[in-house]
Amino acid sequence: MSLSNLYDPEKFRQNGHALVDQLADYLLRLRQHSDEEKVLNYRTPDECYTLMNELMDAPAGQGVATLFEPFLREIIRMHHPAYLGHQTSVVAPLAALSELAGSLLDPGIGVFEQGNIGVVLERIITERLAALAGWPEGASGFLTSGGTLGNLTALLCARQVMAGGDVWKNGVGHQQLAFMASEQSHYSVERAVRTMGLGEKGLIKVPVDRQYSMKPEALEQCLREANAGGTKVLGVVASSCATATGSYDPIGPIADFCEANKLWLHVDGAHGACVLFSKKHRHLLDGIERADSFILDFHKMLMTPKLVTAVVFRNGKNAFETFHQKASYLWDRDEEQEWYNLGKRTYELTKSFMSIRVYALWKAYGPAIFEENVDALFSLAQRFNELLQAQPDFETAVENPESNILCYRLIHSDWTPEKTNEVNAAIRQRLVEEGKYFIVQTRLDDRLFLRSTVINSATGEAQMEGLISEIRRLGSLIA
Ligand SMILES: Cc1ncc(COP(=O)(O)O)c(C=O)c1O
Repeated sequence: MSLSNLYDPEKFRQNGHALVDQLADYLLRLRQHSDEEKVLNYRTPDECYTLMNELMDAPAGQGVATLFEPFLREIIRMHHPAYLGHQTSVVAPLAALSELAGSLLDPGIGVFEQGNIGVVLERIITERLAALAGWPEGASGFLTSGGTLGNLTALLCARQVMAGGDVWKNGVGHQQLAFMASEQSHYSVERAVRTMGLGEKGLIKVPVDRQYSMKPEALEQCLREANAGGTKVLGVVASSCATATGSYDPIGPIADFCEANKLWLHVDGAHGACVLFSKKHRHLLDGIERADSFILDFHKMLMTPKLVTAVVFRNGKNAFETFHQKASYLWDRDEEQEWYNLGKRTYELTKSFMSIRVYALWKAYGPAIFEENVDALFSLAQRFNELLQAQPDFETAVENPESNILCYRLIHSDWTPEKTNEVNAAIRQRLVEEGKYFIVQTRLDDRLFLRSTVINSATGEAQMEGLISEIRRLGSLIA
């Protein structure tokens, strides 16, 4: 194979047609025969390692279909209606095609001279999100690779704006700086704080209520204790929603507290800020209009390939405070706020062409498609919850889940708390190994729960009821 063959347009055409046929057949199979298809052909990590090593060394075979066939066999099937696991997107086929286009064109999005329309789209997308959040003109942002990096970038900005000195230039010094977030905040918040050199004391964990939402009335005392210990609190992170249970922190009262104490308010909406698109569920974000920054992952409920995270600032100019770095090979005027040279505000420089994935769905179907998906997933989750509540031998962590995440487990009056944990962990392991359903697990107050995100609008009552029966069957075998 010569290099020029590698770039042969006709070969690409042939391979592309073959690949799309193969993927369309895969989707069709899952749609028509999901009962016979597993969600996952489980292998241990070591078995996967051996398999993939053998595959790498085996002769390539003919045609693109052979190249990808093992992936379709081995990969977890996100489009399977019995996929009820982690909260990552079930990709809309059009968004996958946009990814193909984006990957082939692949301009590199760090600066305008190379990323042009990709750069501009990031501004347009984040301005539209800002408008949905009720923010005034001047609000803006960019896209980045994932919620973890999104939280870090927003909090780096908050630190620079709120620390009361040029931390970017002089470092954090001796004063302990900190952010506050609920005990249920995603670990990326704590990781961001520690990455900033603020250490263990850099994150003050605010207690949660029985729904696992932050208790805003506890903020005052947390702040008083921090101040008394010489810690300067810079801001509060509201989880919208918390990863484990899908509970939303009440942004309004948190915003009152932040306003009264002149603190930055960041909303970690990686999973749940997508309700910005939903008239029915928008109220869960009431108060976001008073926040300083938020993030939203399109690659969770909004059906784009991973990763696309929007990082949005109410005062778009703040984002220019975060990093001050000279880079004459990229831009000449270090001091100027050139919105179109994204690298001035983003942690990343070269990025994938992620805006094309959002553009494709937004342009082709309108933002109503996001609303439809969010509403569908929330309503399916509500139905799943009703079914769970009706089972006398199941308990849930939260009686009325606010989003599409559910934590539940099998219980029995004879079981000790330890045994309940062990049985449920064993059930989950067996479920995943058998491959008919995919669910995950989490611990809440030392209680192990089975956890599902209803993320596929094709999931129906058949899967929910089937999963409940399967858990019960495995429970009676294991206990
Ligand atoms: C609330 C929240 N924040 C941040 C993240 C991290 O996002 P990512 O996995 O895209 O880095 C997650 C991931 O589940 C999340 O649920």
